[in-house]
Amino acid sequence: PQNVGILAMEIYFPATSVLHDALETFDGASKGKYTIGLGQYRLAFCTDLEDVISMSLTAVQCLLDKFNVAPSQIGRLEVGSETVIDKSKSIKTWLMQLFQKCGNTDIEGVDSTNACYGGTAALLNCVNWVESSAWDGRFGLVVAADSAVYAEGSARPTGGAGAVAMLIGPNAPLALERKYTGTHMDHVYDFYKPKLASEYPVVDGRLSQSCYLKALDLCYGRFCEKYEKLTGKPFSLSEADYVVCHSPYNKLVQKSFARLAYNDFLHRSSYLDGTAVALLEPFRTLPLEESYSNRDLEKVSQQVAKQFYELKVGPSTLLPKQIGNMYCASLYAGLASVLHQTAGALDGKRALMFSYGSGLASSLFSIIFREGEGKFSLSHIASALDINSKLGSFITVSPEEFERTMKLMETRYGANNFKPIADSATLRPGTFFLLEVDSLYRRTYDIK
Ligand code: ACO
Repeated sequence: PQNVGILAMEIYFPATSVLHDALETFDGASKGKYTIGLGQYRLAFCTDLEDVISMSLTAVQCLLDKFNVAPSQIGRLEVGSETVIDKSKSIKTWLMQLFQKCGNTDIEGVDSTNACYGGTAALLNCVNWVESSAWDGRFGLVVAADSAVYAEGSARPTGGAGAVAMLIGPNAPLALERKYTGTHMDHVYDFYKPKLASEYPVVDGRLSQSCYLKALDLCYGRFCEKYEKLTGKPFSLSEADYVVCHSPYNKLVQKSFARLAYNDFLHRSSYLDGTAVALLEPFRTLPLEESYSNRDLEKVSQQVAKQFYELKVGPSTLLPKQIGNMYCASLYAGLASVLHQTAGALDGKRALMFSYGSGLASSLFSIIFREGEGKFSLSHIASALDINSKLGSFITVSPEEFERTMKLMETRYGANNFKPIADSATLRPGTFFLLEVDSLYRRTYDIK
């Protein structure tokens, strides 16, 4: 099979949301800290009617419906998530409800878990499957989904929630250039979830920022090396039309892109003009370790990267700024944003995709866009995503109500014997929601 990749995409995020501007005031943070400092506008969150399973059910059902794919046509289903609802039963098994009712239980794959990287692991697995001798001609299906919630404090405004479903197969309009993938994996304690009775992570925010940027450097270096070895040409940002990065919050994405430009400068890329080179020259011999904390370098490289940022990164930032960190879904929400912002006019273009999951697991890979035909075409995917109406149906609640929900959710995590109390009027039509968790912790869902 040729050009294996993403044939179709769907994104779901809760309608319930809170504005960062209001959160700043409520938290007593200085004006602009969340909106400019983190670069975020709004954060979506689950009430007790929704969770990672319901969001995944919604994303998968909508994808199958919109692209007219029969459940029997799916041969592999993989879920990437770090939202643990059950330590044994995979999210994938709940999704099987959508397939077994049509008689299809012959579907390989389970869940992948490592912070925000699980979705990428699931995607690479599915692509590998289609490219392997095990492939039986059916579609793969990948779900990347999370509810990102933090304890009260500086990390809470970087929460979010969402699910992305992607159909995988050959002759894809979003074809992965699998062979260039650059990966870096390591053992660090930057963000982890050792408290099994709590949904909240333990976070070393500063460390997570530097681990992210170091991983980006290493993945980009390895990607460029493979590209050069296989094509005989050097790689730089001039070969990429779009750059999509995992987005815990937008400011880190701005810094990441600047970091890539700095990498290109160090490798004497020709697209950087004389002015840019002169600005960066003082930092050429800066020791690597220092370069991660040098504020002058950060400022200058962001200044140099700014003109390219608007073109190459800007389009991917729409949903992550409006929804917040969706952990595993974040990178793919960025990709959906590019499709939406360009109305799918991407034929022949290339996107770089940087996936980072704390702990840590990271990969940088590329996608080549090909218009394609019919339902699996870029223009159709862009319109089927229906982003404007999803953004238009946000319900904005007060920071007080957001905090009340977070408190309630603390009592729901790991609990049995309850029915949700949130108002189902907050759900868009076609949304799956939790009906109840019985005394044996068995969860049942319905669709609005
Ligand atoms: N106006 C404009 N900017 C402001 C203002 C203001 N009034 N106040 C602060 N800022 C800027 C700061 O200068 C800083 O920007 P900079 O990094 O460019 O200097 C930014 O706003 C954030 O301010 P900090 O003081 O650094 O914020 P704090 O330390 O309180 O929290 C953090 C930020 C560490 C990111 C926290 O939200 C966190 O721990 N988040 C979760 C971890 C995370 O997302 N890590 C990223 C990778 S791992 C992952 O994906 C989970």
